[in-house]
Amino acid sequence: MAAERHPMFDDLDVRALSRRPGAKWSRVEPDVLPAWIAEMDFPPAPVVREALARCVDDDLGYPSWDGRSVQNPLRDAFAERMRERHGWALDASQVREFTDINQGLQAVLDVATRPGDGVVVHTPTYPPFLETIASMGRRLHAVPYAPDGESWTFDADRLDRELRERPARVLLLVNPHNPTGRELRREELQTLAGLALRHGLLVVSDEIHSDLVHAPHRHVPFASLSAEVAARTVTLTSATKAFNVPGLRCAVAHVGATEVREALAHPTHLYGEANTFGVAATLAAWREGDAWLSRLRTVLARNAALVRDELPSGVRYRVPEATFLAWLDCRELELDTDPQTFFLKKARVLLNDGRTFGAEGEGFVRLNFGTSENILREMLHRLRNALT
Ligand SMILES: Cc1ncc(COP(=O)(O)O)c(C=O)c1O
Repeated sequence: MAAERHPMFDDLDVRALSRRPGAKWSRVEPDVLPAWIAEMDFPPAPVVREALARCVDDDLGYPSWDGRSVQNPLRDAFAERMRERHGWALDASQVREFTDINQGLQAVLDVATRPGDGVVVHTPTYPPFLETIASMGRRLHAVPYAPDGESWTFDADRLDRELRERPARVLLLVNPHNPTGRELRREELQTLAGLALRHGLLVVSDEIHSDLVHAPHRHVPFASLSAEVAARTVTLTSATKAFNVPGLRCAVAHVGATEVREALAHPTHLYGEANTFGVAATLAAWREGDAWLSRLRTVLARNAALVRDELPSGVRYRVPEATFLAWLDCRELELDTDPQTFFLKKARVLLNDGRTFGAEGEGFVRLNFGTSENILREMLHRLRNALT
């Protein structure tokens, strides 16, 4: 079936992409199509490119903010965006910057937990979080996401029982979720908030994919549930995922939990300062990029449906409610090897190995559909051919 074309997103040239120096395209052999690392193939929004060009022309000296006496403009921009998009009124002075989400998580775990403390996480999950929990000597308390019709669910009662038997310190929430693309409903967030209050958990809520939620679903920031919930939550987010500029390394955290905020305030120089490009791109994206973002979401929803229509039979897929990531269950294929190795060898498409997302990822691969219609069709065609 012919899908509607979107020139800003569908005019990608594989030869030009192959010359890109970044990880996604440079780490694959020339005949391989990369559908692994979570960045899209699209050029950044024109407003973001213009903002970056202005930085080069204007001033690459020390920025005007210093993180202490002069506030970074990202703080107000984040507060404005949350108020306008989600009706969440937050205090901009409780926002701070990090280089990336994982740095924010590590800083929070460092000040709020000790080795051996439990960190509750829905699994499978974004692999660097599993590595962070392990390398910092914290204990992973996994809450498996289980298939539920066309979506995913988890057992909140079981989590409640487990926490009574073995307390944990932190709930690391990834919402929208990578890799399943699940966007939790308000009631589910309220259930988790109830558990956090009952069991004294600090909630670290990674909402980096929240601008990529597909209609009719809507994102609800965890900390927006109530003042009481906000006071035990650290929200981590960034414009880099939705606006496709992850190389700029720039993230923000709203630190609602007072003791964590105070602990992070000293020593001030430990985490460095946000860089000029990351801040300029984020400001442009958040303040002027929503028209581009809404076109992007149309393209991603089309691609998510294309994956459903063109996948090889025997591969189970639940259309994600958010993100540009497809979590593919290949267990019925009964391959001789793991599906990532199989599809790399036979289809020349590089997917992410599900096992890196935790034990539940055995037999799964993650496919990144953040690319043009033609490239995605070619990937899906190759996957089908590999199985004939
Ligand atoms: C859930 C989640 N958190 C964090 C990140 C990475 O964030 P950053 O680019 O700030 O390192 C990703 C990237 O894929 C992600 O999926």
